[in-house]
Amino acid sequence: MYVCVCRAINERKLRETVRAGACTVRSVNQCTGLGSACGRCVPCAREIIDDEQQRLQAASCSASVSAPVAAATA
Ligand code: FES
Repeated sequence: MYVCVCRAINERKLRETVRAGACTVRSVNQCTGLGSACGRCVPCAREIIDDEQQRLQAASCSASVSAPVAAATA
């Protein structure tokens, strides 16, 4: 699904950009150009950025929780 039609940025590319370190619409804009034409994509992009950040935090939390267990069994 295209998030930003004007710059041909799909959801996959947007999520990759967030995983690479862009955490705001502005930083994604600087990396990809998203939102730099009509701006209609910005609300949807913001939701996807927030969702991807929550996924990253959840993955980070589960990794840190499982680390002591792995260390204890080693
Ligand atoms: S749809 Fe993203 S700038 Fe137009």
